[in-house]
Amino acid sequence: MFSRSSKSTVGLDIGASSIKLVKLDHTSNGHTVSAIGIRELPPDVIVADEIKDREALIFNIQSLIDQTDPRIKDVVVSVSGHGVITDRFTIGKKTGAEAEQAILFETEQRAPFDIDDVNLDYHVINVDDDVNKMDVLLVAARKEFLRSYIELVEDCGLRPVVVDDDSLAIYNAYEANYDIDPTKVTALVNIGYDVTNITYLVDGAFQATRDVSAGTREIYNAIQKEFRLNPELTGKAIKGEMSDSIDQDMLKATIISATDELISGIELAFSYFKSQAKIDVLDWIVLSGGGPLIPYLPEYLQSKLNIPLEIANPLRNVDYDPELFQYLQPEKIAPLLAVAVGLAMRKVR
Ligand SMILES: Nc1ncnc2c1ncn2[C@@H]1O[C@H](COP(=O)(O)OP(=O)(O)OP(=O)(O)O)[C@@H](O)[C@H]1O
Ligand SMILES: [Mg+2]
Repeated sequence: MFSRSSKSTVGLDIGASSIKLVKLDHTSNGHTVSAIGIRELPPDVIVADEIKDREALIFNIQSLIDQTDPRIKDVVVSVSGHGVITDRFTIGKKTGAEAEQAILFETEQRAPFDIDDVNLDYHVINVDDDVNKMDVLLVAARKEFLRSYIELVEDCGLRPVVVDDDSLAIYNAYEANYDIDPTKVTALVNIGYDVTNITYLVDGAFQATRDVSAGTREIYNAIQKEFRLNPELTGKAIKGEMSDSIDQDMLKATIISATDELISGIELAFSYFKSQAKIDVLDWIVLSGGGPLIPYLPEYLQSKLNIPLEIANPLRNVDYDPELFQYLQPEKIAPLLAVAVGLAMRKVR
């Protein structure tokens, strides 16, 4: 009787700790969540970007789809870590085939691996007509890495319509929900289980990204060891759900003592970025991922890094029915969904 004008996209974020799914309907008024699901993975299925138990991963992805919306076929997924590099450079303003030629040439000068071994994608992030130049963001993924990832998604009975990058997804989710202050140098810091993705914004635009190989796994392991808990209870404790049964001072001390590597990784990345981009001060940190949901962690990071910090809400400008979240509180777990929301914001034709 009437045609459905809204289009929808499913973002599927396959993390080492949990798989997140967000389906967004895109309307003229913005985005609306039409499905959402989170499924935690056993801690040894994916370790440091490496799939250790493919069967278990496929089972968990399929179970999540069945629980959330079994009709889902097309998904936007993302890759990050060792198999992927992103880079930004400036070239003369060009379009079409000429632009591609110039970008390919520039890439050959930069990529730390052979151009024949990678799949390339690029985004023009800024055009400066005054000087006739444009800024290009390059995403290069190793073919082999990408192929095995696509095969995995296909073996789940899904169609990966776009393969994006975690850092770009974080940026897209932030841009859609906040007014970017062009006077502030901002670091979007997505703290995951094995990887922390950092995306820098300068002059109100995407500037660079960096992955730090550290996350909350150390904290998980420390809690498990200190309190001698099974995986299920460790998972509860790290989410602050055991406040009645374990000593909170001891929990705080355990969490803090397990963040050294994460903090020094972030500090190193920040100082590298500042020297590369010739920037004196990082003004602002916006946290996302599961990390900022861990008790005491955001406060401790703020005190150690000594930079004002905010926790992102990637659903800030998104409509949703809280009922869809079932037992989860949307405003509490929203930071965890940053990558999935960013992926689902891609309009796929
Ligand atoms: N409500 C929650 N649900 C799931 N995980 C949570 C929650 N609260 C805190 N966490 C913690 O967040 C951490 C994982 O963060 P996140 O989900 O961003 O990582 P990931 O995306 O699975 O991992 P990676 O990106 O490194 O592959 C875990 O230590 C987990 O215990
Ligand atoms: Mg993640």
